[in-house]
Amino acid sequence: MEEMSNSLPFDSLHNPSIERYRQIYKESIENPEKFWDEHAWILNWYKKWDKVLDDSNAPFYRWFINGKLNISYNAVDRHVNNFRRNKAAFIYTNERGEEKIVTYHGLYKRVNSFAQALKDMGIKKGDTIAIYLPMIIEAPVAMLAAARIGAAFTLVFSGFGAEALAERINDSGAKLIVTADGGYRRGKIIQLKEIVDKALEYTSNVETVIVVKHTNTDVNMVEGRDYWYHHITGENIYVEPEPMDSNDPLFILYTSGTTGKPKGIVHSTGGYAVWVSSTLKWAFDPQETDRWWCAADIGWITGHSYIVFAPLILGLTSILYEGSFDYPFPDQIWRIIELYGVNILYTSPTAIRMLMKYGDIYPKKHDLSSLRILGTVGEPINPAAWEWYYKNVGNSRCPIVDTYWQTETGGFIISPQLGIANWPLKPGSATYPHPGIEPVIIKENGEIAKVGEKGYLFIKKPWPGLMLTVNKDPNRYVSTYFSKVKGYYFTGDYAIMDNDGYFWLLGRADEVLKVSGHRIGTIEVEDALLSTELVSEAGVFGKPHQVKGESIVAFVVPKSGIQREGLEERLKQMVREKFGPIIVPDEIHVVEMLPKTRSGKIMRRVIKAVYLDQLPGDLTTLESEASVSEIRDAVEKFRNEIKQ
Ligand code: WTA
Repeated sequence: MEEMSNSLPFDSLHNPSIERYRQIYKESIENPEKFWDEHAWILNWYKKWDKVLDDSNAPFYRWFINGKLNISYNAVDRHVNNFRRNKAAFIYTNERGEEKIVTYHGLYKRVNSFAQALKDMGIKKGDTIAIYLPMIIEAPVAMLAAARIGAAFTLVFSGFGAEALAERINDSGAKLIVTADGGYRRGKIIQLKEIVDKALEYTSNVETVIVVKHTNTDVNMVEGRDYWYHHITGENIYVEPEPMDSNDPLFILYTSGTTGKPKGIVHSTGGYAVWVSSTLKWAFDPQETDRWWCAADIGWITGHSYIVFAPLILGLTSILYEGSFDYPFPDQIWRIIELYGVNILYTSPTAIRMLMKYGDIYPKKHDLSSLRILGTVGEPINPAAWEWYYKNVGNSRCPIVDTYWQTETGGFIISPQLGIANWPLKPGSATYPHPGIEPVIIKENGEIAKVGEKGYLFIKKPWPGLMLTVNKDPNRYVSTYFSKVKGYYFTGDYAIMDNDGYFWLLGRADEVLKVSGHRIGTIEVEDALLSTELVSEAGVFGKPHQVKGESIVAFVVPKSGIQREGLEERLKQMVREKFGPIIVPDEIHVVEMLPKTRSGKIMRRVIKAVYLDQLPGDLTTLESEASVSEIRDAVEKFRNEIKQ
């Protein structure tokens, strides 16, 4: 099939003048259709769209109507017939020091071969597959192979346990799952296949399991259901990419919200791909010879958008690292940067704070002069961490690109944009909106916040990277995101705009925690605790944590007849097994009752206030005063125990 494109990915908009940004931004807001009509050519399309934006069914916005494209073509095929053919797409390394380099041509071969394997397993356009893999080459291969044949995928973070995985498989309706025997984590092997086997006890839709041999761990293979990846791939084969509609779903990614069940965020093909590749170019201005390291996990949106789709669409070389930054050595991260000559490092404030704790000596021991730009994501960055990153890692010469965005936004929405202009940075501010993004801060009383006033952050207009919907729950899409102020997208975050028009993100305004940059719903943790059947009530909140940003604290009421002795440990262990380590509370306090409203709702804000020695606020709806003293006593007892 013939492809159309009228621009190269590296046609840079670069111009150091802020005026240039103002002009581009203005055009994008005043005439978005014209703007995106031009900018969508960052991709190759099989067929041009008839209309840029259809808002007739708002807030279900649809972009590039009737445009046809394939993402695997854009990420791989279009690089193999030019100078990028033998360029590294991924440099994989791990905590054991192993290395694997996969070129664009190598990736192309792997994607085609696995696409055929998926077809042979009966997967076709419109199906969904699940991916539960560590940070290995087969993860992007599986994502791209699914996209090539028109199947959507849902990739589940390998730190989630069996029940969390099963929930996602069930909601997405995945028919096949790709996993590995195991994954490496701080010298241990996580038994991924075992977790999949367990998860499959809770689901009935999965017919096929494909297992990548990675750690050489013994696994149980079920005849007729389980296949080794290396047995069904490796053929030299070409699979014609399926021409997909711009608004066909590319993937579903589950994220936490304010109600119990994680939401399946559905992203589109065309709008999403235009957005992630454009925003990467604008924010980081990557160059052809750069080595880009987005050090997130592929299981989160950061990994989907900026390890896999955007860098591949732009033809960049990425580091893919399986392991922790500080294992086996406290300077593991600096070793990797030095060894591979990383030019752009993109990580989280939590990681920076952790590295900062180890001290300046570790980055100083290494030659980090290849670094040109630094980035952060996932949580507000405190100025002290910003300064440390700037001075000790970037040697006071690398700009810091603080990117603000969310699973739902697809890609960056507010950040410095070195690809457009170089405006002065302020530590802790994500600076200005990307083209097409019109932020507005609205106060509790519904008025627009003045300069310097805190309020809720909304986005006024749709943009191509905005999710399509919430899987199987369009009402939830409307009620969660477009109902607080009708027609505006609600981010769930607090923000302030300063005198210079810079945006400062101040954290979540809802029941969502950010623990080490991971997004976790308090209700999700409460549900996990309740599912152990050891407790009848649970109240969860986040407390400030020096490194992790927030840590999870739970107060629980045991069921009658349950042994108190060792209850905290039993709860932690059960939650870890069922849902994975990231859901496990750092502290669990056992009490007789929790503060509740008369209608029976647990008052987390009261528990939190008592715990943090703050004023508990309005208590008129409180059912029982005694519950507050109960919390107070538990907190006091806990503090005394720590002191001893
Ligand atoms: C927070 C991660 C401040 C914010 C890409 C948002 C940030 C949530 C920043 C989304 C930042 C992300 N400054 N806060 N630069 N980036 N956040 O869906 O609270 O895992 O709503 O997406 O992370 O988390 P999610």
